[in-house]
Amino acid sequence: MTAQLIDGNALSKKTRAEVAQRVAALAAQGHRPGLAVILVGHNPASQVYVKHKVADCESVGMHSVLDRHPADLPEAELLARIHELNADPGIHGILVQLPLPAHIDANKVIETISPAKDVDGFHVASAGALMIGRHGFKACTPYGCMKMLEAIGCNPKGKHAVVIGRSNIVGKPMAMMLLQANATVTVCHSATPDLAHHTRQADIVVAAVGKRNVLTADMVKPGAVIIDVGMNRNDEGKLCGDVDFDGVSKVAGWITPVPGGVGPMTRAMLLVNTIEAAEYAAA
Ligand code: GUN
Repeated sequence: MTAQLIDGNALSKKTRAEVAQRVAALAAQGHRPGLAVILVGHNPASQVYVKHKVADCESVGMHSVLDRHPADLPEAELLARIHELNADPGIHGILVQLPLPAHIDANKVIETISPAKDVDGFHVASAGALMIGRHGFKACTPYGCMKMLEAIGCNPKGKHAVVIGRSNIVGKPMAMMLLQANATVTVCHSATPDLAHHTRQADIVVAAVGKRNVLTADMVKPGAVIIDVGMNRNDEGKLCGDVDFDGVSKVAGWITPVPGGVGPMTRAMLLVNTIEAAEYAAA
């Protein structure tokens, strides 16, 4: 069997076009959605990410502010800046790029963001809302994965989903979203003794570990849907995911590529969360 590709580039393009329409509809009522992106320090990967986020806003007609600060910014000043943005009616979403320098308490920073502007979905109130099935912003990566399942007509209801990884940003919210969609969910992690035993039973596997070849062909049920959240480099320096793509794509029914899979959808869902925040504020 050769798996069908879940094209994150194509789906993100469609999602961005939908957001652009919603931006235009708000503009017609005199409102312009705005996202503030805060970067502290000079982490090279973070610099690239924030540039993309700002460009994505522009591409759909949203206003964005890139708020750059030196690596030695005192925590109190960062918190004060967030309070300012919380009170700014032209800003609907606030994102603090992680990781933050070691002298800053990331939890404290995230929890200073108003939950109404928490477009990353990292605030404890957003995470709690997801846990109990209430409305709140959803973390962009797992939210994008759910959209990918929807796009291929894969309803998780009654299916066995295995999530590999238990991070607060991907694994845990992914498990909650799948559970909310009525899947039977198994969460595997670094202390799971026999990972293959679980993944072989899965109709859906989400790999979110950050390590190459975590999932190989012998660990996959024929026809399963494979979502690869990983972003790694192989020996030749080429971008690759957590899944052995060449092997697994011979067994799976559907698979996301890396690059061109989950990554573009994560970026698109930030725009979805931001337009939602702006629509809510305008209503
Ligand atoms: N660093 C890596 N990924 C993310 C993300 O999705 N949001 C934020 N704020 N920081 C990140």
